[in-house]
Amino acid sequence: MKTEISFILNGSEVKVAVDGHLRLIDVLRRTMGLTGTKEACGEGECGACTVIVDGKAVNSCLYPAHEIEGKSVITIEGLHVPKHKLSKIQQAFVDHGAIQCGFCTPGMIMSAKALLDSNPNPSDEEIREALQGNLCRCTGYVQIVEAVKRVARQLKGKQ
Ligand code: FES
Ligand code: FES
Repeated sequence: MKTEISFILNGSEVKVAVDGHLRLIDVLRRTMGLTGTKEACGEGECGACTVIVDGKAVNSCLYPAHEIEGKSVITIEGLHVPKHKLSKIQQAFVDHGAIQCGFCTPGMIMSAKALLDSNPNPSDEEIREALQGNLCRCTGYVQIVEAVKRVARQLKGKQ
């Protein structure tokens, strides 16, 4: 049986009918066509499917779709700034070589964003801790941490 749910997706209110077994990632990728969010393990182990729900990074492969009612979801598609430019954090990943195959990247960026939104001046340890649920098979993580540190420096410059 389908239930209608409404939530805020990348700043706009949406309503969708969902089957009870659907996960948030299914709604995002299949129903809404937002394929930037990736699925790899499907078991909460890799972080590829990370999105932000009410300010917190969550694994959308484990998140029951019906629990999203009334909440705010941000996906990688929600980061674009006007005129199709990359956001600061996306640009930092590009500039620091923090992307290779790119499969982990949307989830990695959403975890980094959740961290920087709540703690704009994180230590290296805090960055690594925030990204520990996001696995990358390509980069070795050093460039990823450097990219997040650059955005933190940019945020600090603004304060
Ligand atoms: S696909 Fe969700 S944690 Fe791996
Ligand atoms: S860039 Fe390939 S898995 Fe991270």
